[in-house]
Amino acid sequence: MRRTIKVNGDLFVVMISERRIKARVHQLARALNRDYRGKVPVFIGVLNGSFIFFADLIREISVDCEIDFMKLSSYGDAKISSGNVRMLKELNCPVEGRDIIIVEDIVDSGLSMEYIKSLILKQNPASFRIVTLLYKKDAVKTNLRLDYVGFEIPRDFVIGYGLDYAQRERNLKAIYRLREPAPGG
Ligand code: IMP
Ligand code: MG
Repeated sequence: MRRTIKVNGDLFVVMISERRIKARVHQLARALNRDYRGKVPVFIGVLNGSFIFFADLIREISVDCEIDFMKLSSYGDAKISSGNVRMLKELNCPVEGRDIIIVEDIVDSGLSMEYIKSLILKQNPASFRIVTLLYKKDAVKTNLRLDYVGFEIPRDFVIGYGLDYAQRERNLKAIYRLREPAPGG
């Protein structure tokens, strides 16, 4: 595993190793399998960032389930959340009466998740829960309740395991953080 990575002249260092991610994904799946026993939940991945986490998590899920994806955009190529959320791909599955589980890569300001939550709740699901691999606790601007959190992290900008910097580096196996604190962070 590479300890450091240079992207566009910025230096990134390992924050969470592949081994730690794997162990935590396994624990999250165990909790979900326990909590959703006897139900048929719908796992909804938020593209693009959650695709690797989603794929790893879903293969550890043993309850019957359905999956779907939605796609939002807010960041452009910047390292700081703009808070402007746009819907790029809507859900195809009916939400009413279903047990919905949103799967996110990271909750930063929480604004994307607030947007998703209000959108889903309008469609009367039986239940609504959130799974996020990463949670920037100090950055969150809302009172959002996160039901399953992989890792709480500082406000650093992170890449890898699905997370990008200007669309690059999603394919890294570990999670890396920007060594210098991001401006404003
Ligand atoms: P929020 O609306 O500010 O919570 O931002 C959520 C989305 O921004 C996440 O789903 C990510 O796709 C992206 N994002 C937030 N922080 C980072 C980061 O540190 N690296 C890469 N993408 C991020
Ligand atoms: Mg995302």
